[in-house]
Amino acid sequence: MHLWLDTAKIEEIREIASWGVLEGVTTNPSLMARAGTADRESVTRMIDEIVGGPVSAEVISTDAPGMVEEARKILTWSPHVVVKIPTTAEGLKAMKEISSWPNGRVNATLVFSPNQALLAAKAGATYVSIFIGRIDDVGQDGMEVVRVTAEIFDLHEIPAQIVAASIRHPRHVVESALAGAHIATIPYAVMKKMIGHPLTDVGVRRFLEDWKKVAGS
Ligand code: G3P
Repeated sequence: MHLWLDTAKIEEIREIASWGVLEGVTTNPSLMARAGTADRESVTRMIDEIVGGPVSAEVISTDAPGMVEEARKILTWSPHVVVKIPTTAEGLKAMKEISSWPNGRVNATLVFSPNQALLAAKAGATYVSIFIGRIDDVGQDGMEVVRVTAEIFDLHEIPAQIVAASIRHPRHVVESALAGAHIATIPYAVMKKMIGHPLTDVGVRRFLEDWKKVAGS
């Protein structure tokens, strides 16, 4: 399972990229707002320079012609850019058109059911982003949507890749991997929690203390 970062904050991307395990980034209008910028193009270009892998940039149009027009521009921003399209009926029309272009990579976003995932895949999306946390928030089982979608894609040899999105805690990452997600897009704070463990810190300290006993300070 590939690990992407779900943020538009350049400093967060630089830090996690320095670990050497970052394979992509996803942004959306809310994440852009949290990063305090409306300049999607510059941010996308900067992210691509740091990561050198898929960077999702989302359209803000809600009608198919508007989405398609935006996608034409977005796809010129950087070599690895992926156009994020909401999974609505208008979105499907736009996905179908954009994915017919030679460089037309689409990330179908705001997917909340296996049926939406199936439709987005049929419309040519390269990635389908299932919003686990938001599904859990309304009392349903986000991971079950990932599991069922993975089974359907596997059974019918559908090439679209499942992105586990709206991840809220480290368990979501582990469960996404077990449920068959191809990618998890992870918030910065969750990524930090994934590496931190108190027993690792205690272990490192003890090793150093013991080493000093025999080797001197
Ligand atoms: O990638 C989707 C993500 O940004 C949505 O997360 O926490 O706003 O549901 P959240």
